[in-house]
Amino acid sequence: MSPTAVSQSPVLRTTASHKSAIAPAIPAFVPPPVTTAEVTWADLETIDLQLLDSPDPSVRAQLVAATKKALVEDGFLFVTGTGVTDETLNRHLAIAQYATSLPLEEKQPYAADLEAGSYEGYKLRGIWAVRDGVKDNIEHYNLESSSFDPGFQHPDALRPLIPEIKAFAEHTYKFVVYRILKLISLALELPEDYLWALHDHDKIIGASCQRYMGYFPRGDDDDKPKDIYIRGHTDYNSISLLYSQPITALQILAKNDEWKYVRHVPGAVVVNTADALEFLSGGVFKATRHRVVRPPLDQADLIRYILIHFARTRRDLPLNPIWESPVVKAAGTNPFQDRIDAGGKAPTQDEWLRERIRRTGNSYAPSNKGGSGVNNKVEEEILGTKVQYYT
Ligand SMILES: [Fe+2]
Repeated sequence: MSPTAVSQSPVLRTTASHKSAIAPAIPAFVPPPVTTAEVTWADLETIDLQLLDSPDPSVRAQLVAATKKALVEDGFLFVTGTGVTDETLNRHLAIAQYATSLPLEEKQPYAADLEAGSYEGYKLRGIWAVRDGVKDNIEHYNLESSSFDPGFQHPDALRPLIPEIKAFAEHTYKFVVYRILKLISLALELPEDYLWALHDHDKIIGASCQRYMGYFPRGDDDDKPKDIYIRGHTDYNSISLLYSQPITALQILAKNDEWKYVRHVPGAVVVNTADALEFLSGGVFKATRHRVVRPPLDQADLIRYILIHFARTRRDLPLNPIWESPVVKAAGTNPFQDRIDAGGKAPTQDEWLRERIRRTGNSYAPSNKGGSGVNNKVEEEILGTKVQYYT
């Protein structure tokens, strides 16, 4: 497999001339102060992507070892050296703020076809059952490579912002995702471009989804299910990238079944492993369980705007373990083995994605009912394997 050359431009800046040429004025995003609440933070590794360019092989080797340790132990890590300035980041958080604040009638015609298993467009607020009859309080505008095709329909208010969004999403994919996949390939003792070659790179952001999102506050009425903004889950793609922002609400499920908060690291991207990488690594790198809860009191009334990039493998890729990896060969298993033994095949990224999106927030799915045990765990069988949800 020989990967297509990728953009190596290390810095994405939104310069004044760039802005005036293509970008309209929209309300600025004003970063809120970080919380002063005392919470239990997860102790996560930070990886500097710039060290990948070090001429010293021992520096690169240490970086790969640190990545592997973080992926095996936590499945979450902070990545710095992304080339995205604070100014650019705040501009895109302003776009998230703007996109989610448009009147409902402007957004409605662009609602995503969730029943077809696609997020492209708006996921509007209050259409998912979170649990026990409580509806969701989140909204997002999702862009895929096709969203940047000439003639693709966006709300009028967003259309002038699309070139900026495209530059940001493309940089995230072709610079940040590319480099993280390099590190993960090396951690699996594979050629450094191996995982990138399993991702579609002929399009602007391959098969990725670039999301502009807002979590809207809920009143404090002691209704416990309402404290959970998104139930504990794994993501459906290969790796997820969340640009760190100041509101404390993301938690990961640590080894002892304890939820720990992910702290804000200015300038970093929070990376987590997702289902497709778990399957490709034969379970060596587990998809991480995470959830979103009501922020601490000093932030509970704020809207939490976030930017997420869900990197996905090529849509037609069957999600079988990469047996060429000595690490996978030594410790991996195929989660779809029963299905294969019965004459079936592992699902492709496309099949997995569509099935999981279709089920998300649907009241018929077991994942939206209560569970049992410490964290109300619910198991749901999907395409021959099991996924878990938690309170
Ligand atoms: Fe998630």
